[in-house]
Amino acid sequence: MGRTVCQAVEAAPDLQLGAQIDVGDDVNAVAGADVAVVFSVPDVVLEHTLACIRHGVHTVVGTTGWDAAKLDAVRQALAEAPAGVGVLVAPNFALGAVLLMKFAAMAAPHFESVEVIELHHPDKVDAPAAPPGTPRSGSLRPARRPAAADPGRHHDEPGRCPRGRGRRDPGARGTAARADRPRGGRARRSGEQLTLRHDSFDRASFMSGVLLGVRQVASRPGLTVGLDTFL
Ligand SMILES: NC(=O)c1ccc[n+]([C@@H]2O[C@H](COP(=O)([O-])OP(=O)(O)OC[C@H]3O[C@@H](n4cnc5c(N)ncnc54)[C@H](O)[C@@H]3O)[C@@H](O)[C@H]2O)c1
Repeated sequence: MGRTVCQAVEAAPDLQLGAQIDVGDDVNAVAGADVAVVFSVPDVVLEHTLACIRHGVHTVVGTTGWDAAKLDAVRQALAEAPAGVGVLVAPNFALGAVLLMKFAAMAAPHFESVEVIELHHPDKVDAPAAPPGTPRSGSLRPARRPAAADPGRHHDEPGRCPRGRGRRDPGARGTAARADRPRGGRARRSGEQLTLRHDSFDRASFMSGVLLGVRQVASRPGLTVGLDTFL
């Protein structure tokens, strides 16, 4: 992702690439930039984000693995940082996925049940084999709003996918499912099914969202979680 972001920044006429920081480099090289984009790994994402904030650099973060405690640490650092620093933490930069979440939220009050299916390439490092709601994979985020309309009803159902990856089939490749599927009953009663689908074929799919964040984050002081409020 980092390399793809660098290419996207270099291709954008209004942006200039200031520095590239990888493992082994000094993260303080970010000092002096207007905006930093963080796509390192979950273990170090908080440390990197806090370093950017300390230097007063607006920050766009795509790395997954955030929880409430880490977000609180960011809020605390922002309170102590130079006024006006903005941080955007976005679990998914694909504009289509962000829109899908919006459409799902619109639909949720009108449907009794929801099924969420994720399909991954086999090598995805944080494919969600954990219980639903575990904030490991950014792409799990769409599940939350429909779930909120029907709390406590989600359960793992990886076996429904032919190559399901989940608790019942931990060695299998590439597919994850979180389902609350009415087994014939309620769907038949309502007589309809709404399907929302988003496909991301390439890392390029995230770049318009990342650049949107880069261009807007300076005008949004404080912490923003999710790209939707930037749209
Ligand atoms: N928000 C989104 O839309 C979105 C999209 C794709 C991926 N992601 C997330 O972004 C993260 C990175 O994904 P990726 O596919 O680019 O992974 P990757 O493994 O290809 O890249 C991670 C990079 O972080 C670097 N790194 C590791 N430790 C470091 C350290 N201590 N200091 C500096 N750099 C360090 C690695 O050298 C590597 O270049 C993951 O958490 C992934 O889930 C988010």
